[in-house]
Amino acid sequence: MTNRILRITTLLLGLFLLYPAPGSAETPLPTIHEPEGKGLKCVEPEEVMRRDHMEFILHQRDETMHEGIRTSKYSFAECINCHVEPDEKGHIASSKSKDHFCNGCHEYAAVTIDCFECHADRPQKHIKRGKKTATIQQDLHQMLSANNDNGGELK
Ligand code: HEC
Ligand code: HEC
Ligand code: HEC
Repeated sequence: MTNRILRITTLLLGLFLLYPAPGSAETPLPTIHEPEGKGLKCVEPEEVMRRDHMEFILHQRDETMHEGIRTSKYSFAECINCHVEPDEKGHIASSKSKDHFCNGCHEYAAVTIDCFECHADRPQKHIKRGKKTATIQQDLHQMLSANNDNGGELK
């Protein structure tokens, strides 16, 4: 209950920080990089995504993780595939940079997420796959089994 209230408060605070009243010129807005061109649309309308994106991916994660249901509508990898792209110089911002689609906003709203410790922060086609893969997978398995103690909840 307290958690819920805290969450709602954070959300409101987050939205307040994101959309300051016009004229509060001292507060620079975060740069939000949106996918460009060709009538691309998000998986839900923009204002829904702004407000509820975490519900979609967290819910989706729970369904996939606990019940083995797999749909692609709210796929995490697809979010990144569409939202993250190289700049003109071919450089792809990491999830720790304010130029990363997810992090620009989160840094601004003081939100921290651990998702990119395991999930790729760049599109699949830009992931370099090499010899290190095995080690990363081992790390991942270790982390996941460590998390089983709390019901598989990845927090
Ligand atoms: C400890 C590593 C780890 C962390 C941290 C983690 N995940 Fe995952 N996640 C996984 C693994 C492993 C899978 C299963 C992948 C599969 O089934 O192919 C998964 C699956 C998912 C899926 C379903 C598959 C997909 O691509 O849609 C979503 C959505 C997801 N995670 C979202 C998140 C979000 C959001 C966060 C942060 C709040 C997060 N994950 C943090 C390891 C992690
Ligand atoms: C097919 C490409 C595509 C996919 C996949 C996609 N998005 Fe989007 N997203 C967009 C576009 C384009 C916009 C700009 C609004 C619009 O036109 O719908 C947007 C807008 C958003 C916004 C609002 C940004 C703002 O300016 O306030 C958020 C948040 C967001 N997306 C998160 C996500 C998440 C999380 C996922 C994965 C569940 C996802 N998107 C999947 C294309 C995509
Ligand atoms: C338009 C700004 C914006 C963009 C873009 C955005 N987020 Fe968020 N995100 C927020 C805000 C604000 C919150 C905090 C809301 C709350 O506390 O309930 C949040 C919360 C979250 C949470 C829940 C954190 C928690 O601990 O409860 C997850 C997971 C998340 N975002 C994932 C993503 C991912 C992944 C992307 C990129 C695909 C993304 N977000 C892009 C603004 C954004």
